[in-house]
Amino acid sequence: MSTTATACEIKDISLATSGKDRINWAAVDMPVLKLIQQRFEKEKPFQGLRISACAHVTTETANLAITLKAGGADCVLIASNPLSTQDDVAASLVADYGISVYAIKGEDIPTYHRHIQKALDHKPHLIIDDGSDLVATMVVERNKDCSEVIGSTEETTTGITRLEAMERDGKLPFPAMAVNNAQTKHLFDNRYGTGQSTIDGVIRATNRLLAGRTVVVLGYGWCGKGAAMRAKGLGSNVIVTEVNPIRAIEAVMDGNRVMTIEEAAPLGDVFITVTGNKHVIDGDHFAKMKDGAIVCNSGHFDLELNLAALEKLATNKREVKPLVEEYTLKNGNKVHVLGQGRLVNLACAEGHPASVMDMSFANQALSVEYLVKNKGKLSRGLHTLPDEVDQEIATLKLKSMGIAIDKLTPQMVEYMNTWQSGT
Ligand code: ADE
Repeated sequence: MSTTATACEIKDISLATSGKDRINWAAVDMPVLKLIQQRFEKEKPFQGLRISACAHVTTETANLAITLKAGGADCVLIASNPLSTQDDVAASLVADYGISVYAIKGEDIPTYHRHIQKALDHKPHLIIDDGSDLVATMVVERNKDCSEVIGSTEETTTGITRLEAMERDGKLPFPAMAVNNAQTKHLFDNRYGTGQSTIDGVIRATNRLLAGRTVVVLGYGWCGKGAAMRAKGLGSNVIVTEVNPIRAIEAVMDGNRVMTIEEAAPLGDVFITVTGNKHVIDGDHFAKMKDGAIVCNSGHFDLELNLAALEKLATNKREVKPLVEEYTLKNGNKVHVLGQGRLVNLACAEGHPASVMDMSFANQALSVEYLVKNKGKLSRGLHTLPDEVDQEIATLKLKSMGIAIDKLTPQMVEYMNTWQSGT
């Protein structure tokens, strides 16, 4: 391991060897990002530019940071969640790649905010955000620095909802690329990534059998669809709760039972929230749960579960296993909360697998490049990458899988462009 003068605040630099091996392990399953990295190495699109990235510090994010550095960027990486950092990855990024990281798994909230300040002290030209904490803090606390920002990118649904609110208030000062809205992002990362890694988190934390158990999935967006599909695949009886009638019908026709959380609370063995909304499991619901119920959240923020209300109902709280907190209620029932209500897939497992993050982070890398190439031409507010870029990422992914697909014949193209021929 090399000694380094790279500025950082991490758990332990001596973890770097394991971190490097795991970063390389992920890289093998990120062929699209690798192609982009090779091009960036030659073209250096970010030469002389500072990037501050607020993301989950995982093996996959490490490969994104390495790609941006290969493109000439001066990068600082901070955590986008207090519990999602992989400390060995942070160590390797500092020791082996000379990238500044401010992130420690389990950091307290003041430390989390201090790390946001470190990312802002970097005076970024470009911001990569996951949940919009970095952009929101910059707009409120460092507004005068916003004029130097070429633009930002946002990884997740929750962050985009926040940016839309900011835009409505006239407070979004630069162009922001809605990475989540690319098809090669949400259709894969949110569905297959969240689906697998959420169940992985529940299993790693509890080692409970899911077959024959009732799993309640709150929210049937792309993440909820993924979690429900994978729970069903393991033999669970799945109940879905929704507020959107169209998604609710979709959940029914996908073979799930749909009901209110009021009705589902006494039936579930495992509860997974993926709504992006606040207190979707509230005190009244915890009070009705079965003895031994397991409750977790896989949405971006930890406010989906009203844990303050649960504390009030409880006579005792203790950690019975790492990241499994047992609350004993006044009626004697025990409710188990995983990962302190933070994203279970990153707090209790390793987040989405590399193969889907490959496409998400190809979108991130190309979005940052798009902002630079279009500097001064994009309006303030949200933007999406052109559809051709989405198609290109999908084409490269298929190629990496050795899969060829058909092409439209001239006759088919002609047919699609005529209206005269019918019955
Ligand atoms: N979000 C979900 N999974 C992730 C991962 N593996 N890396 C970075 N961000 C993520």
